[in-house]
This record gives sequence, C-alpha cells and structure tokens, in this order.
Amino acid sequence: MIFKGNFIWAPELDRLEVREHAWLVTEGETVAGVYDQLPPEYAGQPVTDWGDAVIIPAFNDMHIHAPQFVNRGIGYDVRLLEWLDTYTFPLEARYRDVGFAEQVWKRFLNRLWAVGTMRFSAFATIHKEAAWRLMELTEQAGLRGLVGKVNMDRNSPDDLREDTEQSLADTEELICRSRAELKHVGFILTPRFVPSTTEKLMDGLGQLGEKYDLPVQSHLAENPSEIQWVKELHPDISTYTQVYDAFGLLRKGKTIMAHGIYLSDGEKDILREKNVLLAHCPFSNSNVSSGVMPLRRDLEEGLWCCVASDVAGGHTAAMNRSVAAAAALSKLNWLNHPEERHLKVTETFHLATRGSGAFFGKVGAFEPGFDFDALVITPDPVDDLLERTPLERLEQFLYDGDDRHIAARYCGGALVEQPFAL
Ligand code: GUN
Ligand code: FE
Repeated sequence: MIFKGNFIWAPELDRLEVREHAWLVTEGETVAGVYDQLPPEYAGQPVTDWGDAVIIPAFNDMHIHAPQFVNRGIGYDVRLLEWLDTYTFPLEARYRDVGFAEQVWKRFLNRLWAVGTMRFSAFATIHKEAAWRLMELTEQAGLRGLVGKVNMDRNSPDDLREDTEQSLADTEELICRSRAELKHVGFILTPRFVPSTTEKLMDGLGQLGEKYDLPVQSHLAENPSEIQWVKELHPDISTYTQVYDAFGLLRKGKTIMAHGIYLSDGEKDILREKNVLLAHCPFSNSNVSSGVMPLRRDLEEGLWCCVASDVAGGHTAAMNRSVAAAAALSKLNWLNHPEERHLKVTETFHLATRGSGAFFGKVGAFEPGFDFDALVITPDPVDDLLERTPLERLEQFLYDGDDRHIAARYCGGALVEQPFAL
C-alpha cells in the first residue's frame, strides 16, 4: 500500500522525525520506506492520500486491566490496598461469569480501537474461561498483543483466590491453547503482585516461564504500604525486586513491571541487567495517590521505561492523555527536584510508541522493516483559524484530542475497523 500525508514518529527519546507531504510504502505487514518523492517503481499504483492529516505510530499500552475497564473513575479517594479490597477485587470476582466477561471485553476492545491502542499487554482475571475469551476476541478484533490470566493464591478474598496447583494447571492450559490457536495474541505470565502469590506459585510460574520461554507482567514498588507488606511476607529477601528475581520472574528482555516508583539503586541494577520494561502510569499514580516516579532519572540511569494507562487505576484508556499526563507530572516533579529535567511531550510520546513497541520487536516507528501500526490524525474543526505545523497538530492531539480525531487505524499493515457492534 502507498500512503501520502505528514508522518511523525519518535525513533529515540530525544529525536523526532517529521516528514511533511511524504509517501509511506508498505509491503505486507511492514513499512518499506518513507520518501519525499515517490520512487519510480511505485508510480501508477493506487495511493491513499490523507491530505493534511498527521500520521503517527499507533499506541502500545503495556499495562492495562481489561476487567477493570468498567470501574474507570470510581473510588479514587483511597490508596492502593484499600482501593483493591473495596472496588477492584469484588469486581474481578464477577468474571467467573463468562457471559458478563464477554460483554465487557467487547466494550474494552472497541474502546482500545477507538483511542488508537493497537497493541497492548493486559491483565485478565484469575478465571481461565474469561481470559481465553479475551485472547480470542482480541485476535478477532485485529488488534495484537499479550493477555495474561492472573494468578492469586493468597491474601485475596475467597471468591478471588485460587488453589495453587489449579492456578498453574489453568495457566499451562492457556499457554498451550493460545500457541495452538492464535496468531497475533500471546500469553503472558501474570502473577498479580507479590502479596497475592505464594512462593510455591511464584516458583511454578517461574518454571513455566523457562519451559515455554514466556513474557511476564506484574506490579512492583507502587505504594509504601505495599512495599512494607512485601518486606513482612519475605523477611529473608532484601528487596521487592529480588523477590521476583528469586523465583525466575524477571525474564530477560521479556518482563513488564508496572510502576516501580520506589526503587533502591540495587534494585535498579537488577532491572537494568534483566532489561525489564517499567510501565509508568501517571493517572494511576495520581488517582490512588501512589507517588511520582522519577522518570527522567530512571531513563538517564539506563532503565527501559514506557507510559501506560493502568485502567482502572488510570481512569482512561486514551493513551494520548496518558502521554500528556506523563509530561505534566514530570514538570511537577521538576519543580520539586530541579536537578531532574522534565520530560517533553514529544519524549513521552516516544515512550508510548517506539519505547514500548520495542517489547514486541520492530514496532512503533516508520522505519523499513517495522510493522505498520499507524493512526491518521485529522485536525479538530475548531482549530481552523490559525495555520499549524504538523508537529503543533500532534501536540494538540496529544493534549486535547480524542477518538473523533482519529480517521483511520492500521495494525500490522492492515486497516482495522471497529471490532464489535454492540
Ligand atoms: N497491584 C496489585 N493489583 C493491582 C491492580 O489491579 N492495580 C494496580 N494499580 N496495582 C495493583
Ligand atoms: Fe495495574
């Protein structure tokens, strides 16, 4: 396919490519190149001309809880552990009902599609059938990514606590089934967080990780009470990060840890060595008063970080808003810590596209060989009075855009339409 438009992408944290009135050519699922003049070998072929639109890489949301989608915005006047007990766990227990789950999954996937999240890594719940249905529906939607059945066998309500052996058996069944039946959606090991998983369960999951060479996702160092609890549960292990490591759950280059707000230098050494992706979730961190991640410092110290929504700790799946919020929070942090230069919105845009896309391989930039995942952004009709550059229009979309400004979405080289009629 051949597209014409204004292409913007951020191949590196501090580098932006802006190619105005350019041509992008795809071959199959991937980008062949972006050209200022259409190369003669493509002359005469049909062109999709997006005119003045700005075309950007689609968003990757590397930390989102699909079952919590229906709780967006609810119960944020308490902090993490009380929020989980009061609002999150009772909701998640409902997903034993696959019919309910399926209704939520369709709404969830429609929303991700609408806001331009073409790839993601999602938590489901402990329920095998519901998790499987989310995997199938994601594939059916034409979106890509990873889905994990959550594992929980301690410190959880009775109706949201698994038998350890059953949890491992259900997990292995989904690993095998998804490998046999799905092409673009993979399984990701998903121990909820250390307080929810016994040593035996973490050890079994670590072994499954080795056996099937799987990615892993969980939560790390999000809230002071949570960290204290982990210390009490594992007095013989010095840090939260080392608990995961002790059970083989920091799989090199294949692990996503949400938050990581409160990390010691020693923990950062391990996370760097294991090339763990830290998912920074600015809305969640402010909604349940978790804290401010020192994002600039972490990036300068060589940690791999991205921006994610953490719905429903975060109140919206719209990644453009999380991108803008990450820059805003970074500025507030800068005012308190002047030595930590704040991030620009073009940098947080990188973190939600190429920075996170690297977890999937060549994703998140318009370079040859990269998967063509893209959003076509059209201006808001109210912004018709001044001439704006493509970069200015991208900034306005990141801060105040929504799904009405996304004219088309592509994933893996294909146009994706709204997945489900409700
Ligand atoms: N830690 C353990 N479970 C959760 C969850 O569902 N959301 C958030 N934000 N943190 C958690
Ligand atoms: Fe989370």
